[in-house]
Amino acid sequence: MKGALLLFSSVSILLPCLGSCPKKCLCHPSSNSVDCSGQGLSKVPPDLPPWTLTLLLQDNQIHWLPALAFSSVSLLTTLNLSNNSLSNLASEAFYGLRHLQVLNLTQNSLLSFESSFFHSLPGLQELDVSSNSLSLLPTSLGKPWENLTLFAVQRNHLLQLDRALLEAMPKVRLVLLRDNPWKCDCHLLGLKLWLERFTFKGGVTDGAICRLPEPWKGRDLLSIPHELYQPCPLPSPDPVPSLVQQPDPAPQEAQKFPENNSGPQDPLECETKPKPKPTNLRHAVATVVITGVVCGIVCLMMLAAAIYGCTYAAITAQYQGRPLAPSSESEKMGSKEPMDSSPA
Ligand SMILES: *[C@@H]1O[C@H](CO)[C@@H](O)[C@H](O)[C@H]1NC(C)=O
Ligand SMILES: *[C@@H]1O[C@H](CO)[C@@H](O)[C@H](O)[C@H]1NC(C)=O
Ligand SMILES: *[C@@H]1O[C@H](CO)[C@@H](O)[C@H](O)[C@H]1NC(C)=O
Ligand SMILES: *[C@@H]1O[C@H](CO)[C@@H](O)[C@H](O)[C@H]1NC(C)=O
Ligand SMILES: *[C@@H]1O[C@H](CO)[C@@H](O)[C@H](O)[C@H]1NC(C)=O
Repeated sequence: MKGALLLFSSVSILLPCLGSCPKKCLCHPSSNSVDCSGQGLSKVPPDLPPWTLTLLLQDNQIHWLPALAFSSVSLLTTLNLSNNSLSNLASEAFYGLRHLQVLNLTQNSLLSFESSFFHSLPGLQELDVSSNSLSLLPTSLGKPWENLTLFAVQRNHLLQLDRALLEAMPKVRLVLLRDNPWKCDCHLLGLKLWLERFTFKGGVTDGAICRLPEPWKGRDLLSIPHELYQPCPLPSPDPVPSLVQQPDPAPQEAQKFPENNSGPQDPLECETKPKPKPTNLRHAVATVVITGVVCGIVCLMMLAAAIYGCTYAAITAQYQGRPLAPSSESEKMGSKEPMDSSPA
């Protein structure tokens, strides 16, 4: 009994010193890889060997990563967290993984990313976040992700992708975008232009198939002819749009914090802003046309009145000329008569 206890305690003390392997994992020191996949784990095993370069954690139920979750394996180059239950990522979770090259986060429930998340992985080469629930991505990263070559966001809920995000990946060669509800309105023009340049330079993409608006449904963003693709109207100094937006503070907030905004505010901006401009233009055109027509009518009426007046005056003058003369004659005659008759 005492012997067994002693043996147990000495084993448990000695094991970490020998570079133990976590209970549910298979360790392969020759390839520096640790395989903990499909073990029903709900968190990252705490006692990972420090020599680990490849850590396989796929097919588990990890739903949360604490800050510095991988600080004990700071040499990590490949991390597979595919098919877990992650819904949000604290940017500090990957802190310290300066050598991480491949991060596989496919088949989780991620909703969004903070741009600081990207900053904690400066050496990343491949990021796969396909099959999540992402509806927004950061609009920019602040500084370039200089070594990223693969960026995959397939099977998410993305309507838009800001060109600035892709511009922060100067070495990217493969961009996977399929199976998102892309909204091919004016805000996606930047992505279209970026993809055109990218494929022209030899980059590979599986294409963004539009879900909206109706005329482009099912079409690849790249196949829409330029002359039919509407750029966003320039912001106008009209008082009307700002009046329209004032009751709703969200779009203004979004304009103040451009890193924060991505999806939902932009369509609003897209729909409210351009409208006042054409209506104002239409108003102006209508005003000019109406003024012209009214002026023309007034001029014609004046002309008609003038002609009418002149002819009337002429006619009355002519008409009055005759009876005036006889009346004066008869007056004269009448006045003459008494004059004539008085002496008579
Ligand atoms: C995901 O992991 C679960 C175990 O957590 C497994 O049963 C399932 O087959 C995996 N799914 C895929 C697509 O690999
Ligand atoms: C795990 O991730 C790596 C790197 O992303 C990938 O090559 C590999 O196919 C993944 N393995 C499985 C079983 O999903
Ligand atoms: C990530 O893992 C999934 C599933 O295991 C795999 O299909 C995919 O190829 C991996 N991505 C990368 C970039 O290796
Ligand atoms: C990018 O890759 C190069 C060459 O492999 C390396 O020297 C450099 O440190 C990497 N950059 C970062 C930020 O890790
Ligand atoms: C997001 O916006 C809020 C205000 O709406 C601001 O306080 C915060 O700093 C912003 N966060 C980032 C990451 O830009």
